[in-house]
Amino acid sequence: MKKLIIFGLFGGIILTIFLFCQNFTYVGAAKCAICHRTEKQGQQYPLWEKSKHSTSFNALSSPQAAIYAQGAGVTNPMESPQCLKCHAPLFDKAADLKNEGVTCEVCHGPGSEYRKLNIMKDRELAVKNGLIVYPNEEAVKKQCLLCHAQAHGQTFDFASSWEKIKHSIPGK
Ligand code: HEC
Ligand code: HEC
Ligand code: HEC
Ligand code: HEC
Repeated sequence: MKKLIIFGLFGGIILTIFLFCQNFTYVGAAKCAICHRTEKQGQQYPLWEKSKHSTSFNALSSPQAAIYAQGAGVTNPMESPQCLKCHAPLFDKAADLKNEGVTCEVCHGPGSEYRKLNIMKDRELAVKNGLIVYPNEEAVKKQCLLCHAQAHGQTFDFASSWEKIKHSIPGK
């Protein structure tokens, strides 16, 4: 048993090192839009564009933002990691994509490699090339709660929220 745990730990460390050594970079939603905008594909890009996730960076310049900022002791919400970590989570990894807010790659991983058609068509290969997929609903919910767990004291209803932003491939 002990041996198993040590092996498990060791494997975990190797995997972590491996993942950190991969140089996948963020490409921005316009690149995903090339293939993910048609009705046949499921209109992922237009659905995202319509959702508040695409404007969550701009929300930091609203009058309401000034009120939240004051409450949190933040002077400039559009520059503060305290707000950006949820409203523009790529701010430190790909600053040029800050204004895309909660963009595709925040939930699906950096797309420089997996966005190639031959890789995208092969799920397993895509995952090896940086695509993040979610094995079950629990995993999806966990991702949402990274930001939605009592954000600004508001409760989060997973089922109805997912209904608002889901973007399935038809027939899947
Ligand atoms: C060159 C075209 C193309 C580009 C560019 C592209 N995709 Fe895809 N994507 C596809 C195809 C084709 C599939 C497979 C659809 C299917 O299984 O029916 C797919 C599948 C996916 C899936 C589902 C994977 C699964 O099996 O659960 C996700 C998530 C995804 N793409 C995200 C993205 C993101 C994010 C970007 C931008 C970084 C992107 N794609 C760019 C063509 C593309
Ligand atoms: C833990 C993640 C998190 C942090 C940190 C965070 N927010 Fe938010 N914020 C959210 C979420 C999630 C919502 C959407 C809540 C909802 O509608 O259910 C939101 C909503 C907002 C809104 C409302 C937008 C609208 O449509 O009216 C404003 C404004 C805002 N946040 C500003 C800020 C500011 C300013 C900061 C920094 C002081 C900040 N937020 C920090 C997650 C966060
Ligand atoms: C990286 C942080 C982050 C993650 C992860 C995230 N969200 Fe959000 N979400 C936000 C922020 C920030 C807002 C507020 C944007 C605004 O109001 O401008 C928001 C807004 C929303 C809204 C709009 C609320 C409204 O009043 O219309 C819905 C719905 C939503 N999120 C659902 C989800 C779901 C479902 C998941 C998980 C699959 C998820 N979010 C994951 C940060 C996040
Ligand atoms: C807030 C997080 C979030 C954002 C932002 C987001 N997605 Fe997704 N996406 C998910 C989750 C969660 C799933 C469902 C995974 C599952 O059920 O297998 C998903 C599923 C998908 C699928 C597969 C659908 C299917 O039926 O298999 C594609 C394709 C996809 N997303 C593309 C995109 C593209 C392109 C963008 C940006 C334009 C985007 N996503 C933005 C979280 C997100």
